Amino acid sequence: MSPTAFITGASQGIGKATALLFAKNGYDLIITARTKDKLEAVAEEIRSSGRQVIAITADTSNRSAIEALVNLGIERFSQIDVLVNNAGVCMSAPMAETTIEDWERIIDVNLWGYIYTINALLPHFIERKQGNIINVGSFGGKVPLPKMTAYCTSKFAIAGLTETLRLELEPQGIHVSGVHPSVTNSDFMERAIFRDRDSQEEENRRKSMQQMLTSPLASQPEDVAKAILDAVKHPQAEVMVGSAKVPAFLNRLFPGITQGMMQLTTKSSLV
Ligand SMILES: NC(=O)c1ccc[n+]([C@@H]2O[C@H](COP(=O)([O-])OP(=O)(O)OC[C@H]3O[C@@H](n4cnc5c(N)ncnc54)[C@H](OP(=O)(O)O)[C@@H]3O)[C@@H](O)[C@H]2O)c1
Repeated sequence: MSPTAFITGASQGIGKATALLFAKNGYDLIITARTKDKLEAVAEEIRSSGRQVIAITADTSNRSAIEALVNLGIERFSQIDVLVNNAGVCMSAPMAETTIEDWERIIDVNLWGYIYTINALLPHFIERKQGNIINVGSFGGKVPLPKMTAYCTSKFAIAGLTETLRLELEPQGIHVSGVHPSVTNSDFMERAIFRDRDSQEEENRRKSMQQMLTSPLASQPEDVAKAILDAVKHPQAEVMVGSAKVPAFLNRLFPGITQGMMQLTTKSSLV
């Protein structure tokens, strides 16, 4: 029987690259995202590579929709071996410009979305005494980035969730890994939320981020996909992907220096 992976946010970017790579490596897939035509296009690519796929649109912040999809996946494929929690949204804004509704949206998708999938799949993994959970975090969950408080809060929470859960589940045969991308040239900007005191500042922030995503230092979604597959094949606690390895390492050893440098960047209004 072929192994099966459940991947959220698989209609584009890192999630799409991961779904296609897993298909190439013999996995059947359950994929989800909200945009039907893009998700269906990814499903078609997977089918044409000879693998089976269930592609159903869902918002990962909708607990009952996620539970129904997990149950459908187990029913159809009899087993799910890997969960890749990836669906996420970026938000760049000073705290003073971040509304409570913004906070709720970011935490609902970037944190609750991950908790709902884990909660739905865990009984299956525990019963089988095996399984892999890969949580896609961010270098923004390892290094504090000024004016990205809501996003970093959600991603630091993912790092905490991942590290703690790993200790708990490892003795039960279930591997939990955090894969933390640096800036990655995906379609992240399409969904990203920008807030600032006026529209000019928002536009400046948007342009700076666009430049970072397309800079030679940026990773490609396929780089992150490879790291995710590798973390399944060779379980490890944490993988940093791309150029932020160094600042993340320095922040662990010398948080004062790294964070001082980050503060300097607030003058340029975006990291
Ligand atoms: N790109 C970067 O620079 C970067 C850096 C560090 C970490 N990351 C992390 O990597 C992950 C993937 O990001 P990406 O760069 O591939 O971004 P992306 O191109 O915007 O892809 C995000 C995916 O998530 C889906 N999604 C978003 N909100 C959703 C929701 N509520 N329910 C279901 N699906 C949802 C999107 O599809 P729909 O909108 O159609 O639902 C899309 O398939 C995220 O967790 C992100 O935080 C990215």
